Amino acid sequence: MTTWSEGYTTDLQYTSSFYSELAPAHLAFAARSAGWRPPALAGAFDYCELGCGQGVSVNVLAATNPRARFWGMDFNPAQIANARKMAADARLTNVEFRDWSFAQAIERAAELPQFDVITLHGVLTWVSEENVRQILTFIERTLKPGGLVYVSYNALPGWSQALSFRHMARQVFLRHGENPEAAPARILDLADRLREGGAVYFATSPTLGPKLDNLRTQSSAYFAHEYLNRNWRPFHFTEVAELMGEARLDFLTSASLMDSMPEAATSPAAAAVVAQEAGEDRVWAEQLRDFANNKAFRRDIYSRGLNRLNPVEQFLDLKDQQFALAVPRGQADILFAGPMGQIAGSAEVHHPLLDRLAAGPATFGELQAALPQQNVALGIQAVSLLVHAKQILPVFEQADPEPGKRLNGVLLDAYRRARNYNVLAMPAARTGLVASGADMLAACAVADGRDGDLQEAAAYGYALLSASGRTLNQDGKQLIDDEARAYLADEMAPAFDGRIEVWRNLGAF
Ligand SMILES: C[S@@+](CC[C@H](N)C(=O)[O-])C[C@H]1O[C@@H](n2cnc3c(N)ncnc32)[C@H](O)[C@@H]1O
Repeated sequence: MTTWSEGYTTDLQYTSSFYSELAPAHLAFAARSAGWRPPALAGAFDYCELGCGQGVSVNVLAATNPRARFWGMDFNPAQIANARKMAADARLTNVEFRDWSFAQAIERAAELPQFDVITLHGVLTWVSEENVRQILTFIERTLKPGGLVYVSYNALPGWSQALSFRHMARQVFLRHGENPEAAPARILDLADRLREGGAVYFATSPTLGPKLDNLRTQSSAYFAHEYLNRNWRPFHFTEVAELMGEARLDFLTSASLMDSMPEAATSPAAAAVVAQEAGEDRVWAEQLRDFANNKAFRRDIYSRGLNRLNPVEQFLDLKDQQFALAVPRGQADILFAGPMGQIAGSAEVHHPLLDRLAAGPATFGELQAALPQQNVALGIQAVSLLVHAKQILPVFEQADPEPGKRLNGVLLDAYRRARNYNVLAMPAARTGLVASGADMLAACAVADGRDGDLQEAAAYGYALLSASGRTLNQDGKQLIDDEARAYLADEMAPAFDGRIEVWRNLGAF
């Protein structure tokens, strides 16, 4: 553990992923869909991610929003060095990374612009109370009026049963003086022995078993950041709303679009109780919904000042917004994973929207016209559910797709060297799309002109993996030659069955 880390686990670098909720285009759509006016995030604007980790999200967003300026800050210098290298390799000119702590960022705020958007993903829960205060001070000083803050955190009551397990994990870690690589196995073994020994805590915490099973499949980097950090605090929604209030922020809506849809977020009976109890108190309603669905993680959007759109303004703001398929029509489904599990969409409502988009991008106005009922509120909800499920995306006239294409070249080069960032930049959507390993391999085949057909691409993929010493294993057995190529052909089939075309339509290549 290094001295600058303020108790934050730095021995294992945080996993590097892309989080689509951080995209300005998503935040703006979420605001409009919930009936609020977002700041102008279409052209030149300033965006800052605090605790940006390896900077993957910031780099993807900078590449796909070339007229905006992006800042990524994180006190972990190794991560900032990686983030800078990725930006430099892709020749991105609109992103700056600083290895500043939150305290340093406050001291040097005069060197920064006033921001339209400040985001924090996976930070609030894992830092000290003092750091939380610093974050609020930074927001207080650097966010523009009308600016947005995105904040995600572990939530209560969803984490209440695992709170004590986290305490146990941290204690085992401290008492054995271990490195975070070795600690998970010891901690899970102790939990198993206690459970088998009839420990009442485990018996009376039914959500813990599946959580521990899931933990066995996670990387030690994830384990360390979630369970071994000195600081770890899940929040109730109202606690965060109060903290944000200190930085003059109001709750706008959830970036997980289904969370703020009363009829999708809870059972109908619970929705009635929430409506009766909370009335117009949106913050209390949100908190009560978290009890109704035992929320464990929140992704929230706050705003410095709220501007309600009236229903006509909301329609007019959305009418000309274009949408496109984010998956091939044949792979699109209408199953929406929300806070109460999966709900099935309506074939009469959602299929016509997907069918319309299979013919090419369409505006909200055109999508609305494809629906059986001309009810704008229902149209907004239908489109929002498809955006939530990542089946469709808002798309835009793109100023310059080249930075996004260059970044994809860098992401694919990394994949060739067995570093998988699992994302491809989609310039037309001003965001990225999460991509599986097989998708990345298929994208490499496209980039290298080896995408004539699936069999050729599978042979290329096998050669690429073999040349870098990677093996394919199924049921404990290593696959070689024809078996390996057949396996890869299966895995890469969805990409060749339309995904590559979708990525091309979104300007990825
Ligand atoms: C859980 S990680 C999230 C990283 C990234 N936002 C993501 O979601 O991939 C939290 C990040 O906050 C950074 N961090 C923690 N305390 C910090 C501080 N006091 N100042 C600046 N960064 C800090 C860590 O280095 C780490 O990269």
